Amino acid sequence: KRVAVFASGSGSNFESIVQASKNDESYEVVLLFSDQPNAYALKRAETLGVEAESFSLKDYPDKLAYEADVLALLIRKRIDFIVLAGYMRLIGSTLLNHYSGQIVNIHPSLLPQFPGLNAIGQALEAGVTETGVTIHFVDEGMDTGPIIRQEKVWIEKDDTQETLQRKIQQVEHRLYPETLQQLLRKDEVIV
Ligand code: GRF
Repeated sequence: KRVAVFASGSGSNFESIVQASKNDESYEVVLLFSDQPNAYALKRAETLGVEAESFSLKDYPDKLAYEADVLALLIRKRIDFIVLAGYMRLIGSTLLNHYSGQIVNIHPSLLPQFPGLNAIGQALEAGVTETGVTIHFVDEGMDTGPIIRQEKVWIEKDDTQETLQRKIQQVEHRLYPETLQQLLRKDEVIV
């Protein structure tokens, strides 16, 4: 399967997804797309030799026009599957309709707990003893959509935003490629 990864920020998940694909034939990352022209993910793409594109929403009259351009790009690149990895925008109906059941996201909590921004901070604030990572299909909601995989991460008393984030990212960097390999292996139809 030909995969596009969408990232707005650092792109560490993008990098682990690309690295894992080198020893596996279930998917190929052919495009990194960003909504942020300065995202570090774009630099990683250059280093990794993955084609990258970035469109700014502010160059478009509205989100509909923006997504129409993104869709045209994806069609041009013959993208089969979209992987959101730190993409900080809701996906609109243009992409959802065209890639129905073919868009996934990763979120740093055990959804439906702590959706939205700063899920790690939310978990620390709530004083819970465990949080984790969720990979789910994308629908029109924010961090909603059918759950594919979850893995727990324990919160220790002395964990801070930084230490917990590190633990969660370690899980993400293993779990996301592994899950994509399972999902995209052969020509399995995803429903
Ligand atoms: C990850 O923690 C992911 O769960 C969340 O955004 C973060 C992206 O990190 N959706 P990176 O850009 O892959 O380093």
